[in-house]
Amino acid sequence: MIDKVIAAGLVLPDLTRTVAEEHLEELTKLIETAGGSVVDRVFAKRQRPDPATFFGSGKAEQMKSKAEREGATLVVFDDDLSPAQVRNLEKIIGIPVMDRSALILEIFAGRARSRESRTQVELAQLEYMLPRLTRQWSHLSRQAGGAGAKRGVGETQLEMDRRIVRTRISRLKTDLAKIEQTRETQRKSRTAAFTVALVGYTNAGKSTLFNRLTHGDAVAIDKLFATLDAKSQRAAFEMPRETVIIDTVGFIRKLPHHLVASFRSTMEEAVSADLVLHVIDGSHPQFHEQREIGEQVLDDLGVDRERVIEVYNKVDQFDDHFMPRREASIAVSALTGEGIDRLIAAVSVRERADGEMMRLHVPHEDSRMAAKLHELAEVYEQTVTEQGTIFRVWVPHHAVHLFEPYSAEQLLESARLK
Ligand code: GTP
Repeated sequence: MIDKVIAAGLVLPDLTRTVAEEHLEELTKLIETAGGSVVDRVFAKRQRPDPATFFGSGKAEQMKSKAEREGATLVVFDDDLSPAQVRNLEKIIGIPVMDRSALILEIFAGRARSRESRTQVELAQLEYMLPRLTRQWSHLSRQAGGAGAKRGVGETQLEMDRRIVRTRISRLKTDLAKIEQTRETQRKSRTAAFTVALVGYTNAGKSTLFNRLTHGDAVAIDKLFATLDAKSQRAAFEMPRETVIIDTVGFIRKLPHHLVASFRSTMEEAVSADLVLHVIDGSHPQFHEQREIGEQVLDDLGVDRERVIEVYNKVDQFDDHFMPRREASIAVSALTGEGIDRLIAAVSVRERADGEMMRLHVPHEDSRMAAKLHELAEVYEQTVTEQGTIFRVWVPHHAVHLFEPYSAEQLLESARLK
């Protein structure tokens, strides 16, 4: 159980003490998010990690006495440890040891709500667990295998455990593929609304901004990873087009790679949005690093920079003179509403950029054209007249030429010329 925790961070030569402390500050927040409290913090300064104990056995001995003094029940390391390092450290310190990835997985497991995110997290947990299976996991056969799991001839308990985990992994992968397929179909059948995805480091204020931009009810709390399931809602503002805002799962430094793989599809859907708002907590001492991590994820997912607006949030807490000057960056406070009008204006400009609003007159006998309009454009208003229907629509640039002959303005013009 995550209860009284010692947080441990390794300081390698390329890291300053201040940065190392800020990293442990983040680890503390992760531990609190998982329901624990930090009773002590320990740093070890080394040239490189010790292969057997990561921290060095002398430092591990010191941790043992600290743990006894503080009544600690768990040690969490800010880096990933090998299975052998965990075992060795537990032997010396005498209480359970967890690495950063395991902690993040634990938090995700506690937060997953939808079938999709639960499947994604369980998959990531099992993949993390597989190379770490040792004899101590023998209880697993009862958990995952149920009554049907029988040991094969000559198969050890450990081999059987591994087999059960592998079977479960492939089952979860199949489930996930099915869920993704359903979601893809739903996405395609959605309207042609303009989609805006909010992405960014955990705790940057995405959910608060989501609520500000929609009539939303996203949970905004000072905990990490409050949102695991991408959530979408219509914008509450008057926009040139119908606009849907999508809230997404936050990024974090050194996110366990199993999680990255499992959540990739969810993220991919979000970043295939028409516009991506990269939300950065401008008041955070580590905002440069957090911004780079965000950019890295966006690059990995193939999002080109033109589709991104950087939103420096929490401007009520920092002086925007220090904000990096970029063409596409805006300072806002999702909390107080400052700068939101500028953000809305910037989104509106993008919405107008890839198409245009048109007023079209389609005669009743031209029903195929009306159908095409519904397929390719976004219909905002339609009024039926004696001769046909007048549409107010948003048409993407590539389809404008198809509808130009029906332009109501053009029809009026030619009527006048006759
Ligand atoms: P994850 O779900 O972890 O990815 O977080 P998130 O990016 O959705 O952040 P969330 O909206 O939950 O906000 C995190 C914390 O920052 C909360 O305590 C918010 O109240 C606070 N916050 C959000 N926006 C602002 C802001 O503009 N100014 C200030 N001062 N605090 C803010």
